[in-house]
Amino acid sequence: MSQAGSKLSLQHLSCVFGNYVAVDDVNLDVQKGEFISLLGPSGCGKTTTLRMIAGFIKPTDGHIRLNSQIVSSSKTSLPPERRNMSMIFQSYAVWPNMTVAQNVAFGLKLRGVSRGEAGTRVAEVLQLVKLDALAERYPSELSGGQQQRVALARAIVVKPDVLLLDEPLSNLDANLREEMRTEIKRLHRLFEMTTIYVTHDQSEAMTTSDRIVVMSKGKIEQIDDPVSLYRAPKTRFVASFIGRTNFLGVEVDGDRLIVAGIAQSADSAKQLKLSNGIGTVSIRPQDFEFLAAQANKRTDGLVIPCKVTDRSYQGESWDYTARLGETETSVHVSTHPKLAIPVGTATSLFVPFAQIVPITD
Ligand SMILES: Nc1ncnc2c1ncn2[C@@H]1O[C@H](COP(=O)(O)OP(=O)(O)O)[C@@H](O)[C@H]1O
Ligand SMILES: [Mg+2]
Repeated sequence: MSQAGSKLSLQHLSCVFGNYVAVDDVNLDVQKGEFISLLGPSGCGKTTTLRMIAGFIKPTDGHIRLNSQIVSSSKTSLPPERRNMSMIFQSYAVWPNMTVAQNVAFGLKLRGVSRGEAGTRVAEVLQLVKLDALAERYPSELSGGQQQRVALARAIVVKPDVLLLDEPLSNLDANLREEMRTEIKRLHRLFEMTTIYVTHDQSEAMTTSDRIVVMSKGKIEQIDDPVSLYRAPKTRFVASFIGRTNFLGVEVDGDRLIVAGIAQSADSAKQLKLSNGIGTVSIRPQDFEFLAAQANKRTDGLVIPCKVTDRSYQGESWDYTARLGETETSVHVSTHPKLAIPVGTATSLFVPFAQIVPITD
C-alpha cells in the first residue's frame, strides 16, 4: 500500500485577523514524502498555517502550491474536500454513532470507492493501526489512544497527498503519547505521505521529523533537521526553545576575547568567528566540563575560573550552578552522575570552541 506524497510550497504566506498578524510572510518548501513539524509556543500561528494548507482559511497574502498548482491565494482557494488532504485534530473527532470500521470507511464512500475495495482497504489499515480486533466497536467503547488510532486510520485510508496533524497527541497521557509518536513515525515510513505535524512539544518534533520549522509570533525563526537545530541554533529564541542553554556575554577587543572578565587565549575570537564589540554565545549545560587546576592551560576552548554555588542530583546527571570569575554571572553545568563536586569548590570550567554557538540576534 506504499504511495508517494506531494510537494507542498508556501510562498510569502500571511494571515491577518482584523489588524493582528497571526502568520507573517512564511516561506516553506516541503518535499515529497517529507515529515515536517511546525514547532512553537501557543499562539505563534501553527494552527492558522495548517488551516490555510487544508483550505479552511484563505490567506491574506501569498499563496500555497501543491505539486506546482496554486491551491490557495488571497483571490482563490480550492475547497478542503478537493485538496486530497487529511487532517487530524487534537480532539479525535471520530463519529460516535459509527463503528470503528464505518468511521474508517466513510471517506472512501464519499470518494465513490466500491464497497468491495473499501472493505479490503479498511481491513488493511485497521490491521496496520492494530485495531482489526475492534472493528465493530463504537468510539464510546474505546480508550483515548484507540480513538486516536481510529482518527489516524481514517486519515490515511484515503491515501491523502498531504497528511496534516494538529497537536494530535496532546489529549493522551505521557506513556501513550510516546507510543503513538512511534506509531505515527512507523506509518509515515510505510506510506511515505507528505506530513505536516503541528506541536508545541520539542521532543515530539525531534523524534518524528525530518525537518522542524520553529515559529515565533507568526514568523519562521529557523528551518533545520533536529541535530542542526540543537547544535547550531541561529537565534536566541531557537537556542532557548530547543533544549536548555546558557547565554554568555562576550567582548572582543581587537584580537582579545574577554569572557566574564577573563582574557582568553590569543586566537579565541578568530576561532569563534566573533566580530569586534559585545556579543552573545550559547553554550549547552552538558558542553561545559570542570577542569582540574593543572589543566588550566588548554587553548582549544574557553577556560573560565568559577565557584560552584549550587548542585542537584538528577539521577542521569549532576546539575550544577557555577558563578564565573569575579562576576555575578552564573551558568548551568550538567555532568556525568559520578562526578560529584561539593558546593563552594573553586575550580575552572572548560568548553571547546566547537561547542560554542555565536548568537546573531
Ligand atoms: N479566527 C481568529 N480570529 C482572530 N484571531 C485569531 C483567529 N484564529 C487565531 N487567532 C489568533 O492568531 C494567533 C495564532 O493562533 P494559532 O494559529 O491558533 O496559534 P497556535 O496554533 O500556534 O497556538 C493567536 O494569537 C490567536 O489568538
Ligand atoms: Mg494550535
